[in-house]
Amino acid sequence: MCGIVGYVGPRDAAPVLLDCLSRLEYRGYDSAGVSVLDGRGVETRKLAGRVAGLRDLLARAPLHAHCGIGHTRWATHGAPTERNAHPHSDCAGTLALVHNGIVENADVLRAQLERTGHRFTTETDTETLAHLIEEARGATLQERVLSALVRVEGTYGLAVISETDPGTVVVARRGSPVLIGVGDGEYVVASDANAVLPLTRSVVYLNDGDIAVIRPEGYRVFDGEAQPQDRSVDDVEWDLETLALGGYPHFMLKEIAEQGHTVQSTLRGRLLPADGTARLNGLNLSPARCARIRRIVIVACGTSWHAGLVGRDVLEQLADVPVSVEYASEYRYRKQLRVPGTLTVAISQSGETADTLEAVRAAKAVGSTVVGIVNVVGSTIAREADGGIYLHAGPEVGVASTKAFTSQLVALLLFGLYLGRARGLSVREGRALAEELARLPDLVTRTLALEPQVRALAEQYADAGNALYLGRGVNFPVALEGALKLKEISYIHAEGYPAAEMKHGPIALIDEHMPVVFVAPRDHVYPKVVSNMQEVKARGGGIIAITSEGNGDLHHVADHQLRVPATSPLVSPILTVLPLQLLAYHIAVLRGCDVDRPRNLAKSVTVE
Ligand code: G6P
Repeated sequence: MCGIVGYVGPRDAAPVLLDCLSRLEYRGYDSAGVSVLDGRGVETRKLAGRVAGLRDLLARAPLHAHCGIGHTRWATHGAPTERNAHPHSDCAGTLALVHNGIVENADVLRAQLERTGHRFTTETDTETLAHLIEEARGATLQERVLSALVRVEGTYGLAVISETDPGTVVVARRGSPVLIGVGDGEYVVASDANAVLPLTRSVVYLNDGDIAVIRPEGYRVFDGEAQPQDRSVDDVEWDLETLALGGYPHFMLKEIAEQGHTVQSTLRGRLLPADGTARLNGLNLSPARCARIRRIVIVACGTSWHAGLVGRDVLEQLADVPVSVEYASEYRYRKQLRVPGTLTVAISQSGETADTLEAVRAAKAVGSTVVGIVNVVGSTIAREADGGIYLHAGPEVGVASTKAFTSQLVALLLFGLYLGRARGLSVREGRALAEELARLPDLVTRTLALEPQVRALAEQYADAGNALYLGRGVNFPVALEGALKLKEISYIHAEGYPAAEMKHGPIALIDEHMPVVFVAPRDHVYPKVVSNMQEVKARGGGIIAITSEGNGDLHHVADHQLRVPATSPLVSPILTVLPLQLLAYHIAVLRGCDVDRPRNLAKSVTVE
């Protein structure tokens, strides 16, 4: 989704901005642009297409300045055209502005601004911001931005330059992240810490309502009342190497392959096998408070929502507490019930998903304590939650989430252990699970060795038009996740279903052209799933079974078997999902799809 960058410092701004923008490409976008402020005024280059195209454009028509802003746009208001690409300008062409988020009252503002003589040249909501700032009163750009934003409803992360304030970038945020990278005599602004890493690892995260002024001699942060604020400078913990392909053809494959390490990182220092529990320092929930929890509501979107569905089984079984799992986008607009003893758990890789963030705020508004299970350190959800568990999986670049999912499951299991032990789970049961978790990095690595088999299978099914993924119990969310991976990156229509529900509809679709993937490790529902396989086989469907090592009774029913190491049922989704990630990946590659940048998708959905 849209990305913002800005630069103030001694270097030539345009190449720095391009470099920063290229580090935001993974978020998904359809057009790109930069504006700089040189001795003559504001100059802009933009186009519909990729950052590489913008680089060519700048090679043909260079810009030289020490201050500028840039943007990658993911179209919401108006088609992805050059005209609608950011930066946008005012009537006089004296300022340039880039924006993430949505101006919800853009139509009203546009009508008002047109009445006072402003001429619009784009279909975007963002252009209203440029004209509002042009119209606003104030001695400095900062004052004019502040006064313009008073009229804005909706969300924004924005960066502005203006001829009136040479060498200055003004940024502001409400609902969309903005941070300042603090270098040695230079500053870089971005919506995502990945973008600033070539220059610095020291970042200042702005709070909602903040506005900041960045000049060559330093930066200053103000709150919505224009009062100066001290914001801490944090260190970004990952480095540039983790953002490189490291010999892999795609980030998705690299991220699938590194899951032995990433699950280990999520576990590191947290597992207490002898006590059968976990140490979760950031959670801010004492055992006494855990014992008082009456229900848990999990809010999330996409893959994180699937992790939440696994989390329901984990928390209900280990901690004996009722759990509901909500699409954050639905939950936030329903009536929120004030139920004493409710704990809300927000799961989000990015920590910036707009719907999940608003669900967190809605839950807090009715008195719920909120725990975040988040990967990106310092992200908005992580900061607004009362406590949380960081995944420590490192940056996830591939749009289709893989390693974040398995780390989310590990974090939920650690949380289940901790909560469970505070609520009656025996030491013996806790130890058994903790020992299983300690083996997990090894089990993941062994499962990933299935790749050659999965690749061969992909060749057989790459031309499929549809696919069905089935599972029961804790395997059902894995089926959903396998189907989501396939449709996201290969554009094959795929559905995940509870295996027994198949009889209530999808069975009508089954014929010899329909591959059906069963997630069927050996667990208490396994015999039932085998019956469901028979139903598919009787109708000619091709069956791929993801089952447990040592399981020898599927030869007569499954066309193909992928066997993952046997483990405890609650841990098994971390293994069974791996061949499904690989299957989606190899099918997409065989179909010639752009795996890391699937069409229309965004890595981090910061608009609702
Ligand atoms: C987007 C991504 C998905 C992700 C979802 C939730 O749709 O493409 O991969 O699962 O957002 O993102 P979050 O960062 O909140 O986990």
